[in-house]
Order: sequence, then C-alpha cells, then structure tokens
Amino acid sequence: MASSFHFHFHLHLLLFFLLPFGNGLSVSFPSSVDRDVDFDTWISWNVANHRRRALSETKVLNIGKVAGDKQREAELNNVTINVSQNGTGEFKTISEALSSISPYNTRRVVINIKPGVYRYACFERCYGPYLFTREKIIVPRTLPFITFFGDPSNPPTITGNDTASVSGKDGRPLRTYQSATVAVDASYFVAINIKFENTAPHVIGNRGEQAVAVRVSGTKVAFYNCSFYGSQDTLYDHKGLHYFNNCFIQGSVDFIFGSGKSLYENCHLNSIAKKVASVTAQKRSNSSMESGFSFKDCVVTGSGLVYLGRAWGDYSRVVFSYTFMDKIVLPQGWNDWGSQKRHNRVFYGEYKCTGPGANFTGRVPWARILTDEEAQPFIGTHYVDGDTWLIST
Ligand SMILES: *[C@@H]1O[C@H](CO)[C@@H](O)[C@H](O)[C@H]1NC(C)=O
Ligand SMILES: *[C@@H]1O[C@H](CO)[C@@H](O)[C@H](O)[C@H]1NC(C)=O
Ligand SMILES: *[C@@H]1O[C@H](CO)[C@@H](O)[C@H](O)[C@H]1NC(C)=O
Ligand SMILES: *[C@@H]1O[C@H](CO)[C@@H](O)[C@H](O)[C@H]1NC(C)=O
Ligand SMILES: *[C@@H]1O[C@H](CO)[C@@H](O)[C@H](O)[C@H]1NC(C)=O
Ligand SMILES: *[C@@H]1O[C@H](CO)[C@@H](O)[C@H](O)[C@H]1NC(C)=O
Ligand SMILES: *[C@@H]1O[C@H](CO)[C@@H](O)[C@H](O)[C@H]1NC(C)=O
Repeated sequence: MASSFHFHFHLHLLLFFLLPFGNGLSVSFPSSVDRDVDFDTWISWNVANHRRRALSETKVLNIGKVAGDKQREAELNNVTINVSQNGTGEFKTISEALSSISPYNTRRVVINIKPGVYRYACFERCYGPYLFTREKIIVPRTLPFITFFGDPSNPPTITGNDTASVSGKDGRPLRTYQSATVAVDASYFVAINIKFENTAPHVIGNRGEQAVAVRVSGTKVAFYNCSFYGSQDTLYDHKGLHYFNNCFIQGSVDFIFGSGKSLYENCHLNSIAKKVASVTAQKRSNSSMESGFSFKDCVVTGSGLVYLGRAWGDYSRVVFSYTFMDKIVLPQGWNDWGSQKRHNRVFYGEYKCTGPGANFTGRVPWARILTDEEAQPFIGTHYVDGDTWLIST
C-alpha cells in the first residue's frame, strides 16, 4: 500500500512539471508506467507460483527437488578436484583449479580444498610490480556449479587484505566491489567448511577502509558451515538468491550489506565495533526489487552498540526471527541513514526474537513486530525459492 501511495504521489509531481510544457508524453506516461509496475509484480508472482506448482510434482532421487534438468544433470555427474599446498593434489592454488575448468561446465566441480592458508593465489598475472598483489579468487559467471569444499575439522582459510582505497592494476582505487578476497559471479556456487577473511583493519574516521571478505553476485548460491571475518563491509551480499546455514559472520561496520535476497539460518553475527555501528546495510532501492535479508534462528553478539540495520536503499528490507540479540543492540534497533522518507518505505520486521537486545519498547516507530502470517514468507527456504535449487547436503 505504502509503495503505491508514493508511486502515485511522484507521478503527480511529474505531471505537474510535464504538463505546463505541453509534453505529449504527459498523457501516455502515467498509464504505461502504471501498467509496468502491476505487470512486473504480476509476472514475478506468476512465475514463482508456476515454478512451485511444477516442482511439487517433480521428485528427483535424493538430490532434492531441483528445478532444472541442467542442475540435476550437473549434480549427478559431479567431479572432484583436489587442491593442496604441499603438492598432493592436482593443484596448489584455488585459482589454478578454477582455471583448469572449461567455461560453461555442465557438471558440478567439487574443489576439495585441503587445510592451509590460501592467500593471493598467484596465477598468470604474478609478475612485475604486481608480484604478490591483487591476484584474487574470482569465480566467474562462466563457471556455474562450483563447490569449495573444506575439511570440517580443519577448514582452509582464504585470506586477503585489500581495501576500497588500495590502488588496483590500473592505478585507481579498487573501491568496495573489488576489495573482496573472494568474489562469486557464478550461479549455483556452494561453499562448505571454508573460512573467508579480509584482515584489513578498520580505523574509525578513515575513509576508503571498506574491506570485503566475500562478494556474492551470482544467484542460487549457498554457504554451509562457513565463516566470514572482516571489519568494515565483511560480506557483500550483492545480488541474487543466497542461502547461508550455520555460518559465522564478523565485522565492525555494515558487515552484511547489499541487494541480495538472502536467508541466513543458524548464523552467528558477531560485532567487533568499537562505538556505534550497524550489522546490516540492506539496499533495496525501489519497491519492485526482489531483495531483502531474512535472519532466522541467528545470534547477535559482540562489542560496541549496533543497529540491526540501516537503510542503504529507500525500500530496504530486513527481518529477524527467532534470533537471540545480546545487549549490544541499540534500543532504537533501526536507522534511516538520515532520510525520513524511508520511514514508510523500509520494511524492518522482528518476530519471536529473544535476549536483552530484542526489547521492542525503545524501537523506532517504523519497525514492526510481525504477525505469524506476516512472518511466514520470510522464515523458510521458500524465501529464496529454495525448492527450485537448494540441494540437501
Ligand atoms: C555425485 O554424483 C553421484 C552419482 O554419480 C551421486 O550419488 C551423488 O549424490 C552426487 N553428489 C552430489 C553432491 O550431488
Ligand atoms: C582427491 O583426494 C581424495 C582423498 O582426499 C582421493 O580419494 C581422490 O582420489 C583424489 N582425487 C583425485 C582426482 O586425485
Ligand atoms: C599434504 O597435506 C595434506 C592435507 O593437509 C595432508 O593430509 C598430507 O599428509 C600432506 N602430505 C605430505 C606429503 O605432506
Ligand atoms: C596488507 O598486507 C600486506 C602484507 O602483510 C601489507 O604490506 C599491507 O600494508 C596490508 N594492507 C592493508 C591495507 O592492510
Ligand atoms: C557442518 O557442521 C556440522 C557441525 O556444526 C556438522 O555436523 C556437519 O556435518 C557439517 N556439514 C558439512 C557438510 O560438513
Ligand atoms: C529497481 O531497481 C533495479 C535495480 O537497481 C532496477 O534494475 C530496476 O529497473 C528498478 N525498477 C524500477 C521500477 O525503477
Ligand atoms: C524493555 O525496556 C523498557 C524500557 O527500557 C523497560 O522498562 C522494560 O522493563 C524492558 N523489558 C524487559 C522485558 O526487559
């Protein structure tokens, strides 16, 4: 309701400016925009609904009820590559293993990563002034169905320390996006038992210290038993459908941020903030965007004082359910990042949370306690269309 109100409000403003100029568009513009919005909403609903119905009829071995034939084939025909720093695997670095896979692979490739600290894997571009620098792990869009698999009793660490202000190969600052130690541009990526790090420290007041450990821009990506260590901007949940299970995520400022549509289950969010910070900075920038973070059965602990979220986008959307919140959570809970118009655009919900930080008495009036019905869409893997791609491990 709120979004449609604002939409029409803006439209009237637009018309006000357009009409005096006798712009021919002013007549056709409203109806076409109106239809686009309704149409998009309807289409995504219809596609999702169709997918759900089709799937309830598909039973696929024990690989889960995966939607596409392509994924089913890929999962069934999986292959394994071993990466070990002491030369007992086929490759010593993760980058080399990735480079050995032909583009548009149709089989799941499980990269078995033996214990060790993997840092700036040198491959091809390790020369000249860039020796020991900037060679990072990127899982490109052309390599779907990759799994990073670590030893649960001794998970490998993939580490880096780039920041947004560090100069890249072209001499320009890397910016937040390129600071990531590991970047996942591929779809159907899975990581199990891996420790991801960005060790660059955050100094309050300094600029350009965003230091991402992992950026995820592919869709249908899942992380199990992984840990993410960083300070400012640890986990760039950039875009796509993502699922995190039994993960540990640590940082100081906005340490889970981006426009992904993601479910975090059984995760531990640990703040190392020294003063006041925010756990999330969710960026949903318009009312038709499929985007938002849902945290279920999580734990929020650590140092400093934190907001659960601050609105990076006008329509930011975050829900915490069944989550224990320690006393570091500020009574207000949520922050509008200096823009009051966001108060009736963002969707910040809490449902059956516990702990001293979950006391709702001091919350900003635009945060909500969700009803059972309102919480439902957020508290299962259906939130990320899991029934179409998540495989039970
Ligand atoms: C890998 O393929 C085998 C059959 O080839 C199958 O039994 C197994 O479940 C697959 N593994 C995964 C993780 O899909
Ligand atoms: C990878 O390592 C496992 C043991 O961890 C071994 O059984 C398997 O044969 C290795 N695969 C290859 C392709 O070397
Ligand atoms: C190489 O590393 C693996 C995994 O850490 C270990 O199991 C194996 O014993 C090592 N082999 C040698 C020859 O050092
Ligand atoms: C990253 O680590 C290297 C090597 O330890 C160090 O020289 C560099 O200053 C560090 N950079 C940052 C931004 O912390
Ligand atoms: C993940 O960790 C749990 C223990 O926390 C363990 O039981 C489970 O086997 C692990 N999963 C995988 C896929 O290694
Ligand atoms: C909403 O934002 C997304 C992502 O920035 C963009 O692709 C889309 O076109 C926007 N939609 C509208 C209606 O502005
Ligand atoms: C919640 O906070 C209010 C105001 O700070 C306080 O009066 C109340 O006792 C708290 N409730 C609980 C259950 O701690």
